Amino acid sequence: MKQSVLLISNSTDFMFKVLTAGLSRAGINFLHLPADPSVSEQAGKAHILILYLDESLARDEAFLTGVAGALSGQVLYLIGNKEELEDARRILPEGAVQKSYVRPVNIRDLTGDILALEKAGGEQAGRPRILVVDDEPTQIRVTSRVLSDEYKVFVAGSGSNAITFLKRETVDLILMDIRMPDMDGFETLSKVREIPGREEIPVIFLTGLNDGDVELKGLQAGAADFITKPFLPEVLKLRVRNYLELERLRDDLTLEVKKKTEEVVRQQDEIRHLTFQIVETLSGTIDAKDKYTNGHSVRVGTYAEEIARRAGFPESECARIYMIGLLHDVGKIGIPDQIINKTSRLTDEEYAIIKTHPVIGAGILKNITVLPHIADGARWHHERYDGKGYPDGLKGEEIPKIAQIIGVADAYDAMTSNRSYRSAMEQKQVRLEIEKGKGTQFAPQYADIMLQMIDEDTEYAMRETVHAKRNEEQE
Ligand SMILES: [Fe+2]
Repeated sequence: MKQSVLLISNSTDFMFKVLTAGLSRAGINFLHLPADPSVSEQAGKAHILILYLDESLARDEAFLTGVAGALSGQVLYLIGNKEELEDARRILPEGAVQKSYVRPVNIRDLTGDILALEKAGGEQAGRPRILVVDDEPTQIRVTSRVLSDEYKVFVAGSGSNAITFLKRETVDLILMDIRMPDMDGFETLSKVREIPGREEIPVIFLTGLNDGDVELKGLQAGAADFITKPFLPEVLKLRVRNYLELERLRDDLTLEVKKKTEEVVRQQDEIRHLTFQIVETLSGTIDAKDKYTNGHSVRVGTYAEEIARRAGFPESECARIYMIGLLHDVGKIGIPDQIINKTSRLTDEEYAIIKTHPVIGAGILKNITVLPHIADGARWHHERYDGKGYPDGLKGEEIPKIAQIIGVADAYDAMTSNRSYRSAMEQKQVRLEIEKGKGTQFAPQYADIMLQMIDEDTEYAMRETVHAKRNEEQE
């Protein structure tokens, strides 16, 4: 019987990746879960539990005792450094841990141990567990004799005994008599279903009554199958074997789907993280070029994200708007430094060059297809709601919402930042300017949100603080 391995770890560091790669290479079927309370339910289904410790997990008394309590015949391995192993062993009950591996783990040792268990599993530890519930001792003897050379058989002489047992241990299959004194098979089954973690154990009813009504009642109660007494030993064996095989295939499939899903989620997270880092790095290079607008891109991204959130954009969209905000001025990369950093008044010609940055930016970003509309913010953040902006003179709702939002955020940050020719404006003045630009420069909806944000910002914290001045002093 193939062993299923549950690998519990909060860490996904390099050493952990080496370990999982090693297990996969050895063809070991494992599921990785983080250490949270739901693990104990999964723990009941696995044959081997591997706890990959870290400093806090090794001392997590509640979690470790929970895992120890969920064990019923499983093999428990620990992986950790020397102190972590000692800490965990102090908490876990004596004899619960089969083996400890000191990190870095010798993968061959670990996989060797698992494969050896697998080999022995057919005979001992990995045998499917069957509970036989019957009030007739002869019947119990017959049934267990037939099954015990292939399965680990437990017996219960009554419904209430079965429930007591199942509160403590779990099994892969229950064979249950229907006619029993006190509590019949139907009642027992419904009580079993109420025990946490036992909702899904398949039950085959053993019945002496060849009665359609009973079968219907049993199926409605959630019985998996019926076997009529008296039965031929070979028939019982075959029915049980087929049923367990079916269950195993179903479990394997569920595990496989879960594993694949986790892998996909992990990869998506990595890509998202990487994208964020690249975008942040790129926006840092833009800010570095313009020494008077230090941190401008980050602030515009932050303000734009908050406006979007208040406007009711979904959270994933808000995160995207933050990134688009970070990149809105990327086109300034193409503008000569001496124009960007000029402290005296710009000539008309220089101003015309500055005004090309939205088109340059959109050109840079247009090939990034993984982030849809990423170029919109760069191209249209200088458009005006009344159509008098640049580069395309878009008007009102022709301007994409993202660009409308960034337009407000950008103007707000320009006013609340120190520039070469002036310090940050008074908050009152900024508020007035936004109010004045509502419907002409700015989309009214987003200008209103900006005004609300200003009103809530009683400390005037939303502004560039000391960066520009400090830069000047350093130079
Ligand atoms: Fe700009």
